[in-house]
Amino acid sequence: HRTSENTRNALVRIEVVNCFAEPTVIHWHGMIVPDSADGHPHQAVRSGGRYTIEFTVRNPAGTYLYHPHPHRITGRQTYYGLAGLLIVREPRALDAGLPDPEHELPLVLQDRRFGAGNELVFKRMMMDDMNGVLGDRVLVNGVDDAAFRVAPRPYRLRIANVSNARIYKLAWSDGRPLRAIGSDGGLFNRGEGVQERSYVTLFPFERVELLEDFGARRDGAEIALVSRAFSGLDMMDSMMGGGMMGGMMGPSQGEELHIARFTVSPGPRSRAQALKLPEPEGPAREGKHELYTQLAFRHMRGFLNGRSFDADDMQAVADDERLPVGEASLWTFANDGRGMAMSHPIHVHGVRFRVVERSGGTMPADLRDGMIDTGYKDTFGIFAGERVRVLIAPTVPGLFMYHCHNLEHEDGGMMRNCQFSDR
Ligand code: C2O
Ligand code: CU
Ligand code: CU
Repeated sequence: HRTSENTRNALVRIEVVNCFAEPTVIHWHGMIVPDSADGHPHQAVRSGGRYTIEFTVRNPAGTYLYHPHPHRITGRQTYYGLAGLLIVREPRALDAGLPDPEHELPLVLQDRRFGAGNELVFKRMMMDDMNGVLGDRVLVNGVDDAAFRVAPRPYRLRIANVSNARIYKLAWSDGRPLRAIGSDGGLFNRGEGVQERSYVTLFPFERVELLEDFGARRDGAEIALVSRAFSGLDMMDSMMGGGMMGGMMGPSQGEELHIARFTVSPGPRSRAQALKLPEPEGPAREGKHELYTQLAFRHMRGFLNGRSFDADDMQAVADDERLPVGEASLWTFANDGRGMAMSHPIHVHGVRFRVVERSGGTMPADLRDGMIDTGYKDTFGIFAGERVRVLIAPTVPGLFMYHCHNLEHEDGGMMRNCQFSDR
């Protein structure tokens, strides 16, 4: 879990050395990079191979990620540890009333299960391909039962869900609300404002930034970040009526989980500064282009408009997967294909987008209030039966991808290419 930090317009050069006994390639999730540096599965290098990429940081400040992307083994390589944050900083965080980097905590959440010898246990059963691999313990930055000592002052928490399949319902154990100031693509703008929630729903590979004033609690206070129980999503729940089967089948989606402990050290209290969120960016040039993708999951596999990723023709692009560069397209994802009712985290490479509409479907009441569609996104959750429309304006031409970011669904082929082209 090395975190890499960069500023806008910096030139980044990264050398990747594959020390695995199998192919790999690294993808820079959320970063706007040329497709030659994107880490597409067709760019995977064999064991012992190496390559260098270079790109200029074009993204606004925010919390981005890196993780492997070879076809069919992304889930396993990520599970065993090859993933982390890539933070882009704003040069004037202090002027904006944000805590300085010393009072910032990056929190990478990953659920894992351990065997009798305390080893990581990856796939165990057929259910893992369907639900995605779930663990019963949450590691934070690779540490089990993570504990932080914090000063009685405001902190900036950069929370990233880097779990293969786990959806979190993040909350404080003492019931205080969470104040979200940013999501996948950085800070919310002034018009959007701080999003205060009693809990935050975070799908795999989404990020949320919180501004948390630990000074509002007494010296010595101990609080925990937890994932609250929720129902309505687990497949065994709906198939078997939950309960007993859940226990027999291992960890399930929606169980209550402990994440990390925070202890407030006694010390001088410093007050929260007035927060100045950035001005809204101008809207992207409006286009007329519309795309439609229907999601489906059947026979243990996911489909996008009836297609899956073709391992023999990794660069295949269909007509309904082409987007113009430099103008906004409206892309509708409809999670109502024939098959099992399931939720999916959907991600598009190489572009930032906005969620403009969410309708229909059966969003569990237990998760609704925690959904944050605000800000620039690169990954969003979609529940069974829902339609989500995003406004998306690619800025870099090339061959990119969109896929379900449940890593077991992705490895199972619920992934396709999309081509961004100049007109
Ligand atoms: Cu983070 Cu293609 O994914
Ligand atoms: Cu990505
Ligand atoms: Cu999925």
